[in-house]
Amino acid sequence: MSQDLMFQDRIRTVVQDAYRAIPAGGGREVAQRWYAPEELADVPTVAIEWALGVGNPVRDAALSQGETVLDLGCGAGIDSVLAARAVGSTGEVIGLDVLDDMATRARRAAEAAGVADRCRFEVSEMEALPFDDASVDVVVSNGALNLSPRKSRAIAELVRVLKPGGRVCIADLIVDDDLPPEVLASDASWAGCISGALSERVLQRKLERAGMTEVTISGHLPLSIDHLALYPLFNAEVIELMRRLIPQERQDRVAVAVVIKATKPTRTVERDASAAAAVMELMASGASHLGDIPPDAIEAPGVTVRHLKTVEDIQLKVLDVEPGGSTPHHVHPHAHEGIVVAGVGALVLDDRDEPLEAGSVFSVAPTDRHRIANRGPRPLRFVCMDCFVE
Ligand SMILES: C[S@@+](CC[C@H](N)C(=O)[O-])C[C@H]1O[C@@H](n2cnc3c(N)ncnc32)[C@H](O)[C@@H]1O
Repeated sequence: MSQDLMFQDRIRTVVQDAYRAIPAGGGREVAQRWYAPEELADVPTVAIEWALGVGNPVRDAALSQGETVLDLGCGAGIDSVLAARAVGSTGEVIGLDVLDDMATRARRAAEAAGVADRCRFEVSEMEALPFDDASVDVVVSNGALNLSPRKSRAIAELVRVLKPGGRVCIADLIVDDDLPPEVLASDASWAGCISGALSERVLQRKLERAGMTEVTISGHLPLSIDHLALYPLFNAEVIELMRRLIPQERQDRVAVAVVIKATKPTRTVERDASAAAAVMELMASGASHLGDIPPDAIEAPGVTVRHLKTVEDIQLKVLDVEPGGSTPHHVHPHAHEGIVVAGVGALVLDDRDEPLEAGSVFSVAPTDRHRIANRGPRPLRFVCMDCFVE
């Protein structure tokens, strides 16, 4: 029997039901908090009435004419409309929301704003984006990432669809401290972006682990219980619970709205005659997961790879390298770690060798070219995470 141990299915259902049930968004009061009057002057009423965001990501995204922008969890399209103006008629905005009703509202907003020619809206989950690898210049999102019960997966997906050199600009909430469990456990807190909010440190690490660089988290703006009460997701009951259980000195800072920016590195592909070149070519074409790479893409004599387990989006592999052998030189788009189970050898980087023996834990930065060499008389066995050598 499969068990929903992380309550992922339940959270998904709670979030979707909550957004399906609300009769309107936060309205002008929420919109005016994040957008300047001149920005709102150009936004149709439907998008303002349904504003549910926690920031103004398009303002910080530095969009240029002609860019392709993906708005994750676009809701009724307030940011999609603003992005469509910024990228002009040569650009494209794709709004994505899990709810059909939201996408319909966003479509209406784009039509009313006169930018429908460069907008399209898709109904899908951010954890499984229906877009090609390396097809988007910029990902913006406003108050949606922390609704995901599978954030690492959602982040891996947005990195996958970004072009090398592409960037993200996300407005979201972080929570510094533990809130009372009664508050965190309420369905309203999940739907209201509180229970799913990560700490700044964890959010930064997840983005870096997914291969993003230049990660910055800025603009910290504390949100009080009164601010949260403006959002229809928080019913009177949960607001009352917060007033009763959250310590007085914390009531002005239940969560903090932030702007998260990061860049997908551009990779230089080194060519050599070995099978590693084929892999690197695949990586350069945007493949970021083992599953993206055909199993016959790599020939590595003397190296046996067995798939141990997949945990969320991380694949654990057992690799055996014969004496005198080595994996091909390769790179990963993410930080990559492994542990040696038996044998002796080395992690060979471009500028140094790091000795390995049973029990050694090694870590390779994203895009660092490396190989693992056996320098002992017996097979070198190690377990690594998300290693693409198949
Ligand atoms: C807080 S609202 C923000 C809407 C919009 N970005 C705004 O600023 O008004 C979050 C949106 O994310 C959508 N959403 C929730 N979970 C999602 C998921 N897993 N994939 C895609 N969209 C999701 C909801 O339907 C909702 O429209």
